[in-house]
Order: sequence, then C-alpha cells, then structure tokens
Amino acid sequence: MSATAPASHGPGHPHAADQGKRDFLKLVSGAAAAIGVGAIAWPLIDSMNPSADVLALSSVEVDLTPVPAGQGITVAWRGKPVFVRHRTEKEIKEAQDVKLSELIEPQPDSERVKAGHDQWIVVIGICTHLGCIPLGNKPTDPRGDWGGWFCPCHGSQYDTSGRVRHGPAPLNLYLPQYAFESDSKIKIG
Ligand code: FES
Repeated sequence: MSATAPASHGPGHPHAADQGKRDFLKLVSGAAAAIGVGAIAWPLIDSMNPSADVLALSSVEVDLTPVPAGQGITVAWRGKPVFVRHRTEKEIKEAQDVKLSELIEPQPDSERVKAGHDQWIVVIGICTHLGCIPLGNKPTDPRGDWGGWFCPCHGSQYDTSGRVRHGPAPLNLYLPQYAFESDSKIKIG
C-alpha cells in the first residue's frame, strides 16, 4: 500500500479533502510519507474489512481422534501455538488433587477444563514469563517435575493443568476460547 496510489475517492468522499495535503507530503518527503500513511492505513483496513483469510484463521477446528492419551498436539491459532493435551487418568487425578495453597496462581483444575471433557487440557503455548514456547508436547520433550510443560528459557514449569508450579513465570498458561463441537472435535476461537 502506498500513498502514491491513485485515490478512488470522489469529490464528495470525506478523504478527498486530504488528497491535496497528501500530494504535498509526497512531493516533500517522498518515500517517508508513503510509509507513514501506509502504516496508519493498514490497521484501519484490517479492522474494518477483515479479509477472507483473516476470518478463516480466527477459529480453528481440531480433530482430537488421532491424539492418544498421554500425548499432545500443537495447533496454530491467530499466530499463537495452542497446546492440546490428552491427559491420562493419573494426570487428571494429579491435576485435581493438588492443594490450591501449593499453587503460584491458585486455580482449580475444574476451572481450566470443560465439564465432561476433563481428559483434554487446551492452553495457549506461550510461557507467561517472557513469552517462550515451552516444551512438553512432543513425546521426546522434557515435561518438568509436574508432568506438564517445561520452559527452557529460564526454567519455569507447568503442571498437567497448565498451571505454573515453578517460576519465574508468574501466571498459569492462558486458556484460549474454545468449545467442544462433539466428543472428538473442538473449535478454538
Ligand atoms: S520465558 Fe519461560 S521461563 Fe522465561
């Protein structure tokens, strides 16, 4: 996008009055003015008229069938990794039985999973310390002492509910908005 593109605005268009000013800027400042106008225009266009691909990425359907208990997958959603983990019975019990007083950010497991689907934990895979992507979703990854995720950047650890159990991360992994469309399919976003 460039300020040098011919304007399609007619004389009655509210932007038409600015056209002369922009032409002047273009002459004086050349590329710098073009970049400035472009940088302002893009966010406005994006928010007012999201393109088809932006709309498509705003939600993602995930088939859970291929994910066996004890394993997870990583899904890209709105430019972020989302961890979807199929928890074992033991992992669910550990997540439910922990005393809230032991947690850095106390939150019961029941508030972090969907009722009736507590074998699935779905979290945004971004460490709440400085934003690294924790390890733990691949079978060969370290999962830390609490069996969830381990952030190699500064050593934060998360449990099987995605709650931080060892800092420096101050908060639990964030939960994306999602819903079960069936027992084997979720829609994120
Ligand atoms: S970014 Fe994860 S521990 Fe620092």
